[in-house]
Amino acid sequence: MDCINIGLIGYGVVGQGVVKALKSRRKFLREKYETDFFIKTICDRSIFKKPNPGLENTALTVDYHAILKDPDIHVVVELIGGLSPAKEIVLGALRAKKHVVTANKALIAECGLELFKEAETQGCSILFESSVGAGVPIIRTITEGMAGNKFNGVYGIINGTCNFILTAMSKHKLTFAQALKEAQEKGYAESNPSLDISGMDAAYKLAILVFITMGKFVSVKDIYVEGINHISHEDIEFAESLNLSICLLAIAKKTGNKLDVRVHPTMIPKDHGLATVNGVDNAIFLDTDPLGDVFIEGQGAGQMTAAMGVVADLINLGIRVDAPACIWAFNPADEVANLTLRKIEEVETRFYIRFMVIDKPGVLASITTVLGQHNISIASVSQKQEDKGSTVPVVILTHKANEREVKEALEKITELAVVKGKPVAIRMEKL
Ligand code: HSE
Repeated sequence: MDCINIGLIGYGVVGQGVVKALKSRRKFLREKYETDFFIKTICDRSIFKKPNPGLENTALTVDYHAILKDPDIHVVVELIGGLSPAKEIVLGALRAKKHVVTANKALIAECGLELFKEAETQGCSILFESSVGAGVPIIRTITEGMAGNKFNGVYGIINGTCNFILTAMSKHKLTFAQALKEAQEKGYAESNPSLDISGMDAAYKLAILVFITMGKFVSVKDIYVEGINHISHEDIEFAESLNLSICLLAIAKKTGNKLDVRVHPTMIPKDHGLATVNGVDNAIFLDTDPLGDVFIEGQGAGQMTAAMGVVADLINLGIRVDAPACIWAFNPADEVANLTLRKIEEVETRFYIRFMVIDKPGVLASITTVLGQHNISIASVSQKQEDKGSTVPVVILTHKANEREVKEALEKITELAVVKGKPVAIRMEKL
């Protein structure tokens, strides 16, 4: 195709980045791909509320139907986020036989199956590289570059804001609030940053990764999600002294016919590749067969990195417009059919547990008695020496323990008079 007419819906941070990237590269793209990537129309509900320098040759509208009805538009780029009206827009575009590029993780995670079926029916493509890891080529690497492999595990640092905060707390000694403010100022966080901090943003991305690797649609409400707002300097420092590092990890792990899907702060060995992922970078570590371990890393949030994922999708559409793109690489169908989700209460992991206790004889014995009653075996115990008479932190690393047992034991231990405040429990992964 010598000209691809694009209808862009959503002219926020990423939308503006896409326009900037396509304009500055138009000549280069024309020469390299013999295709003109032309943004014909932009739709945004606020488009007339401010001046739009540089958009003199672009039609502007507040009504997305103008794009869906335009027979000259080949591709709709949806960048408004959320489910409604994004779903109506994407379905409408596909039914009008237009290809779709979207960065909308919530939409793909929640409605992907329906949208992919519609795309197939209409003979169109729906591409979503920027929905996970922004422009870091995670989706295409898996769906195309790793096609034919089986996927046993996916471990991802897939929220740039959380990784930025944890890195800033650990390396630059910032407080949680200072680090969050900086992430927001740099444009990494969602408009509602609680989606990042609570782990929900990573859960949407994990649902997409599970689908493209293991072929199973998992609703985000079935993913166990825990955010990072209870992580303190104290735990970061303890982790360091134990040669561990804390990250918000999205995990999908297959053992037999059971699949763990969870997002939570996790302590991982300091010498693992994932522990070296700093700042706003995202990374995924894939356990595959027969290819083995694969690691992908790059900047996973920010205007231009997100925009470049969209641009890569547009170029891929441009060069394969008559052949719908692959959207999955996943495991054999019979394995997928038998795969069931493991409930969080059934999960077994090692734990880091920090108790604040009164420093006097017999305290440790009272804690370890409760742990023993719940079949929780201790791997190590350490205590930081503080001023006499004050409370002191005691850190226990457990061997593999059952979630339900740990939860019950911690409830009982919290009630002990010698224990002050709620214990902090952080799961550990060996990887
Ligand atoms: N807010 C997201 C993050 C970027 O911090 O990773 C977009 O997915």
